[in-house]
Formats: sequence, C-alpha cells, structure tokens
Amino acid sequence: MQAIKVTEKIYWVGAIDWNVRDFHGYSTNKGTTYNAFLILDDKITLIDTVKKEFYQEMLSRIKSVIDPKKVDIIISNHAELDHSGSLKMAIADMEPEHVYASVMGTANLKAHLGDDLPVEAIANGGSIDLGGDSLTFIESRMLHWPDSMICLLKKENVLFCNDIFGMHYASCKRFDDEVCEKDWIYEAKKYYANIILPYSKIVTAFLGQVTKLGIKPSIICPDHGPIWRKDPSKIINLYAEFAAQKNKNKVLVIYDTMWGSTEKMAASVTDGLIAAGVEVKQMSLHAAHRSDAATELLDSAGLVLGSPVLNQELYPSLGDLITYFKGLKKQNLVGAAFGSYGWSDGALNELETIMKEKLNIEIAAPCVKSRFVPTEDKLKECFELGLAVGKKVLEKNK
Ligand code: FEO
Repeated sequence: MQAIKVTEKIYWVGAIDWNVRDFHGYSTNKGTTYNAFLILDDKITLIDTVKKEFYQEMLSRIKSVIDPKKVDIIISNHAELDHSGSLKMAIADMEPEHVYASVMGTANLKAHLGDDLPVEAIANGGSIDLGGDSLTFIESRMLHWPDSMICLLKKENVLFCNDIFGMHYASCKRFDDEVCEKDWIYEAKKYYANIILPYSKIVTAFLGQVTKLGIKPSIICPDHGPIWRKDPSKIINLYAEFAAQKNKNKVLVIYDTMWGSTEKMAASVTDGLIAAGVEVKQMSLHAAHRSDAATELLDSAGLVLGSPVLNQELYPSLGDLITYFKGLKKQNLVGAAFGSYGWSDGALNELETIMKEKLNIEIAAPCVKSRFVPTEDKLKECFELGLAVGKKVLEKNK
C-alpha cells in the first residue's frame, strides 16, 4: 500500500475503513478514514496512528516511503482508540526516541494502553525542533476529549488538527478538491452535529484563539476524511457557522408509531408547520437513524416529538433519541409533543416535561394526545400545534 504525498515533506500514511457502519452510535454510512501523517524532516515524525485493526495498512504505507525504524518521533494528538489503538505496536516496531502527547493525553493514553507506555507530556504552546522545521502544540481541550491537541508545522504552515474539521467519509480520494463539495458539506455537517455540537462554545473560543495566534494554515490535515488544501478557510468558516447555531426557519418532526395513529398525527403536525411557512423535515424513527436526525437538528429552530405509549412508557426509540439529543445540547429550540395512547396518557405528559427540562425546549403549544386512532378533530389539533410551533419559530428568528 502506498503513502500519498501531501507536500514534498509530508505524506498521508493512514487507513481507509470502507465498511464501518457504526461509530459509537453514529451511523457511518460512507465508512471513514483514520488519517496518519509522516513528516520527513531531520527528525522523522509520525502524527497519530490508526485503529489497531488497520495497523498493517499504516505500516505498509510508511514502508512505501521509509524504513519505519527511521521514525524518530511519534505525536499522539488524541487518546481515542481510532487514533491511538495501534500506538503500542508502532512504538514496538519503530522504537522512536520520543512519543509526545498533551498533559491530559499522557494520562488518557496510559489509562487506555497501560502505565508503562513511554509517552511524554508536551506543554500547551510548546514546540519541538525537527531540524528543518518545527512543530508547535496547542491544546484543543474538549474538541472533543480533554486530551485533544493540534499541532502546526511552522514553515510548511500545515495544521494537524486531529478530529476537528474531520468527517467520516471513506474514499479513494485524499483531498478536498477531489471530492464532490455537496457530499463533503453534508458529511462535515453530520460529523459536527454528532461529535462536536455539545462543545460549540469551545469551538467559537478555539477559532478565536487560532485567529489571535495568527494561524492561517495553507493545508489542514484532519484525522478523518479529506485533507483541506484547496481552500482551508472553507471548513474553518463552516465550523464558525455551525458553532454559532444560527437556526434556520426549520422544524424537525420526529416520531415513531405502533399501529399508525402517531404517524397520522405527525402528518397533520407537518401540515400545520408548512401552513405556517417554515421548512419541515418529518422523520420516522422506523426509517431514520438517530445520527441522521441529529444532522437535521443542527440547523433547526424547532423540534416536535411524537410517541405512542407502550406499557405506560414512551416508545423505546423515543427514549433512545432523547438520551442522544440530551447529550448533544442543541440550543435555542422551540417545540411541542404529541402522541397516541390506549388507556394511560401519563408518558405523553412526561414527554413534554422531558422536552422542557432535559432538552431545554421552549414549549410553543400543549401536548396533543389521541386515545387510539385520531379523530378529525384531533388531527385538527395536531395541525394547530404545527401552526403554533411554526409561528413561534418565525417570531423568534425575526
Ligand atoms: Fe476520531 Fe475522537 O476520535
């Protein structure tokens, strides 16, 4: 397997995971890449490694350029196992002089790979001389783990940013200018919504810090997906936009259904939203994965949830979605709840309370509850619920 030249002295030596379809609960329909980079300077440096199952692929790509024993330094920008899973094997085979991580990275790597891991902490703002060029390290805590850091190869002006600016996108192409822009924008959005969204305030502060430090990279090398060489500012600007959470006049209607009653109600809610003049995305949890729902949530101003009642509880798929969305901490939502029941409607009252208290949603209309199959009057109430949520969204976004 071949390394891919990024610049005269930088090579991509990562791995392509064409078949991964679940990444800790995120549906990776297009697979992913684990990017690792080799810097050929006086001190030969490997930036990050790959998931352990792909170690031989990374090794063979390194071998296409140099003898792996010549690697002097390994940098671990992040302790999560998709980047550090083969670190121990790499250390054993390459016998580098130094392995560096952030202070938190050192602790987290040892917690994953053992206390005997020969890793040294590098201070925030610290740098190391590679001979011709140098690497400067900047902590990027909570983007998206406490140990995350980025590093800049100074003269080349190339930024190695680990998970930030990445996406789960397996392709035979390595660079942004080789990939369809519509595809990468969607995958970048999905990645942000599912991995980075809870840390949006930190993203804004981080981008401010990068600007303050005068960092304007010519090339950005993330650890997943394409390398940004055509116009790296595009992905930076996209992150600034995502982090600002400026919602569109858009409402997401997410529901599940047991015998079709809640689905009928969802259709009427959607009708009401359309009548109000907002964009609507209606998603059944029978068909949509939670991570696709999260992608749609990113730029939505409204969220309406519908559930049948099963054994006096919310439908299990709604429980899953609520847990997932709670962690994503999406801001500035308005919404409402609806659903059908047979003999006990308590779970639907609970749904409204959860939306208010756990998801921080401003409730725009009281929960509409239908005993078994919704009547025409009940469907009219659902339409009115949609209308009220839509109007509230337009009012808030004015
Ligand atoms: Fe790609 Fe947080 O690991």
